[in-house]
Amino acid sequence: MKILHITCSPRGEQSVSYRLSQRVMDRLLTQHPAAQIVTRDLCAEPLPHIDGEYAAALGGGARDGARTGNGRAASSLALSERLIAELRDADYVVIATPMHNFTVPSVLKAWLDHVVRIGVTFNVTPEGKVGTLADRPVYIAVSSGGYRSGERARQPDFLEPYLRALLPTIGLKNLSFLSVQATAAGPEMTTAAFAAVEWELDDCVAGA
Ligand SMILES: Cc1cc2nc3c(=O)[nH]c(=O)nc-3n(C[C@H](O)[C@H](O)[C@H](O)COP(=O)(O)O)c2cc1C
Repeated sequence: MKILHITCSPRGEQSVSYRLSQRVMDRLLTQHPAAQIVTRDLCAEPLPHIDGEYAAALGGGARDGARTGNGRAASSLALSERLIAELRDADYVVIATPMHNFTVPSVLKAWLDHVVRIGVTFNVTPEGKVGTLADRPVYIAVSSGGYRSGERARQPDFLEPYLRALLPTIGLKNLSFLSVQATAAGPEMTTAAFAAVEWELDDCVAGA
């Protein structure tokens, strides 16, 4: 039993999204005390952006650098292979992410560019893109300075719709979003938002 815990805030353990994701982790670990946790802190250890070799290997039809005999492409793809293996091996995925400029932080986008890979985690078919990963629960803990949903939202949200479109492309359809919004309104609002999300946490992590 493995849980992949991905964190994307530059604020480390102070981070609201991290603290929200810890509530998911606590519940999962209560249910699976022997679970192995694999942590990827994308701010503490940022991934490189994909490079020209990677793009060329994917775009040129040579979708597995190791098989092309092209050493540079193979090494560009090696990190992607590792990250995909980490994702494939996880029984649960927990992603902690703040909203940055209406969408995911760039560190999370970099991770996605490494794991959403043609010919490996999805295939193009006449019906569209079809994922190759087995589905599993994915919990996404999102924090935002303002409201990003509901009547009080005064900004577009490209974060949740983006992940709801992209993750199923690689086979991950069992998505649960948990939110703490309006953190910019101060610590009292944040505490209230944490309290309000408790029942949702119980509900979506129950029996996981
Ligand atoms: C670069 C940057 C961009 C941000 N953009 C937005 C935004 O578009 N909308 C929003 O509601 N909050 C935005 N925020 C505020 C964060 O989403 C908010 O402070 C959040 O609670 C931080 O979560 P964390 O503690 O997990 O890092 C932004 C913060 C930063 C640092």
